Amino acid sequence: MKRTIIITGGAGFIGSHVVRLFVNKYPEYNIINLDKLTYAGNLENLKDIEDKPNYSFVRMDICDFQSIFELMKEKNVDGIIHLAAESHVDRSIKDPFTFAQTNVMGTLSLLQAAKIYWESLPEKYDGKLFYHISTDEVYGALNMTHPEGIKPPFTTTASSQTHHLAYGEKFFTEDLKYQPHSPYSASKASSDHFVRAFHDTYGMPTIVTNCSNNYGPYQFPEKLIPLFINNIRNRKPLPVYGKGENVRDWLYVEDHARAIDTIFHKGTVADTYNIGGFNEWKNIDIIKVVINTVDRLLGRKEGEDMDLITYVTDRAGHDLRYAIDSTKLQRELGWEPSLQFEEGIEKTVQWYLDHQEWMDRVTSGDYAKYYDEMYKNR
Ligand code: NAD
Ligand code: TYD
Repeated sequence: MKRTIIITGGAGFIGSHVVRLFVNKYPEYNIINLDKLTYAGNLENLKDIEDKPNYSFVRMDICDFQSIFELMKEKNVDGIIHLAAESHVDRSIKDPFTFAQTNVMGTLSLLQAAKIYWESLPEKYDGKLFYHISTDEVYGALNMTHPEGIKPPFTTTASSQTHHLAYGEKFFTEDLKYQPHSPYSASKASSDHFVRAFHDTYGMPTIVTNCSNNYGPYQFPEKLIPLFINNIRNRKPLPVYGKGENVRDWLYVEDHARAIDTIFHKGTVADTYNIGGFNEWKNIDIIKVVINTVDRLLGRKEGEDMDLITYVTDRAGHDLRYAIDSTKLQRELGWEPSLQFEEGIEKTVQWYLDHQEWMDRVTSGDYAKYYDEMYKNR
């Protein structure tokens, strides 16, 4: 079937993997990557597919309701996969306004443009979908009742990984009440509510998914894993917040993109799916794995860079534990994480070590100046 889909935030970390997957897998689809190219957006992430006939890029702000409406009308858009967002918790603590503007008002302007356009068509919402990508952080934080970790009562294909521990018996399930703590998660929670409100009020076909922490290639090096890989390589201090005891649940980014593909095509309208790989790690443990892996792949003595670990003041309102229960997605739609964590982290470290030029351009901000110049008069 022919479809025209806008993927917002396609020049960012997760968005670029979703765009690549859809462009390669569905040559009959017309994929429009809509991105403002903030500091986190980088078209270099999509060099390998930019010349494909079913791909196009539009530099646009999701808050620009009028331009989005015109684009939807001109291209006859029938699906939106919405990833564009401000995504870094530390930035949200310093500058919450930008997060409310992009994540809340931007999502609302996309919803309103889709509503007006789709309602103007004879078939209205038939065959349309607004798919909103959200985070597990909207659920707040879980307790850590088992600081040493227990074997969780779940089985997945990834469950054979050597580290498969849970740090409490409670998990984020789809029916949990939202309790966001950071300005980032509060803005994402608000956008999730708007998406559901557009279904409940206007009958717009919507889906919301909440995913755990992603890792993999093309992640902006302000986030834990790429920042630390780069610092270890350059023998710079590794700033560990608090005691490094906080727990995050990590999923390889391509597995998230595969889940988005599955849910976009097979998910139930108005439903919510949690996405995660049952892969909880204390920050300090994952940091040690990263140090060992970087050292080994650089031919250094494994662990020789442990002394770069530097404990610093904790993040304000730092959520203690995130842990996703993705049983529903696995049971209802048959999605499973494909990679064991050890394999994913090895691939990830190798990718950043092999792409030092990407890292240098991203950290210097040179690419951003280039885009500003290139799109100045458009
Ligand atoms: P990212 O910061 O790497 O990329 C965000 C992209 O959105 C960038 O390309 C940026 O240019 C674009 N963007 C920002 N503001 C925009 C605007 N006003 N108009 C148009 N484009 C704009 O983010 P990411 O880590 O790839 O996350 C993508 C989505 O997935 C976000 O909605 C995030 O909340 C969600 N999510 C992320 C994670 C994670 O671990 N990174 C986990 C779960 C959910
Ligand atoms: P991050 O990658 O920012 O993702 P999120 O805040 O969305 O979970 O951080 C992952 C974890 O690592 C989080 O508990 C904060 C911690 N962290 C550090 O200890 N030091 C750092 O420099 C960063 C960026 C994060």
